Amino acid sequence: MPSLRYADQVVIITGGSSGIGRGCAQEFVQAGAKVVICCNNEAEGSAVAAELRASALAQAAGDAVFIFCDVRKLEDVQNLIEATVARYGRIDCLINNAGWHPPHKPIDEFSVADFRDLLDLNLVSVFTACKFALPYLRQTRGNIINMSSLVAVIGQHNAPTYVATKGALTAFTKALAIDEAVHGVRVNSVSPGNIYTPLWQAAIDAAPDPLACRAEGEAAQLLGRMGCVEEVGRLCLFIAAEATFTTGVDHIISGGAELGYGRKS
Ligand SMILES: NC(=O)c1ccc[n+]([C@@H]2O[C@H](COP(=O)([O-])OP(=O)(O)OC[C@H]3O[C@@H](n4cnc5c(N)ncnc54)[C@H](O)[C@@H]3O)[C@@H](O)[C@H]2O)c1
Repeated sequence: MPSLRYADQVVIITGGSSGIGRGCAQEFVQAGAKVVICCNNEAEGSAVAAELRASALAQAAGDAVFIFCDVRKLEDVQNLIEATVARYGRIDCLINNAGWHPPHKPIDEFSVADFRDLLDLNLVSVFTACKFALPYLRQTRGNIINMSSLVAVIGQHNAPTYVATKGALTAFTKALAIDEAVHGVRVNSVSPGNIYTPLWQAAIDAAPDPLACRAEGEAAQLLGRMGCVEEVGRLCLFIAAEATFTTGVDHIISGGAELGYGRKS
């Protein structure tokens, strides 16, 4: 039986129904946490929460529940926080993971409205969730983990809007870490490189040559493969449960993708 490293701690994971968020939810439930997953897809969220609950029961560890929330909507985010506290009485960790990477294209093909919409989803939603969860996180001296991206620091081809949202998220994390230290709340970011998820699969499906696209995705890492969602979940669990002297740090999990020179022109 896995050790209950985060027993009875209450964790909110936005976008916890798929990909990295789902991987985080699995790891936290196994560690004994009470996990609230949210997303804006009722059917998917309910089904994943039921699976997580069943695995929690089987292992006598943790709990999981789904709360509908479109993180772009202020009232939904407020409800997510209040409903979590109404159910479990506290919040120990907030993982702001919900986000989206639009298809790759040059700046000429993004409208200003496209950029504003993505800022709402990838950045303003995180500000909102932090703002409303912090009064509770200060009570428990809890922690926040913001899901940023490796491309926030190294950039990415044909992704100016996405990279801007993630760069801002990494910077926001550091600023908030400074302010919240006095309350004993730690604020960190996690910056994945290529992690194989439904979002990555959608990019493969949309590529002119899907097999070549997947092979490129695998070859971008020194370790010769993409990461898996459980690996990101375990890093988040370590940050929440054990990294108690760590705040304002951007934790890259990339299989070495950013190291060394490659052909750039
Ligand atoms: N997969 C990667 O390689 C990778 C790399 C770096 C960063 N990331 C980041 O990790 C996070 C998760 O990515 P993923 O690959 O697991 O994607 P995914 O598409 O598999 O999962 C995204 C989750 O966010 C939820 N979501 C989307 N819009 C929402 C909204 N408006 N309100 C509430 N929930 C919403 C979805 O329902 C889903 O649960 C994203 O922030 C992404 O930018 C992913």
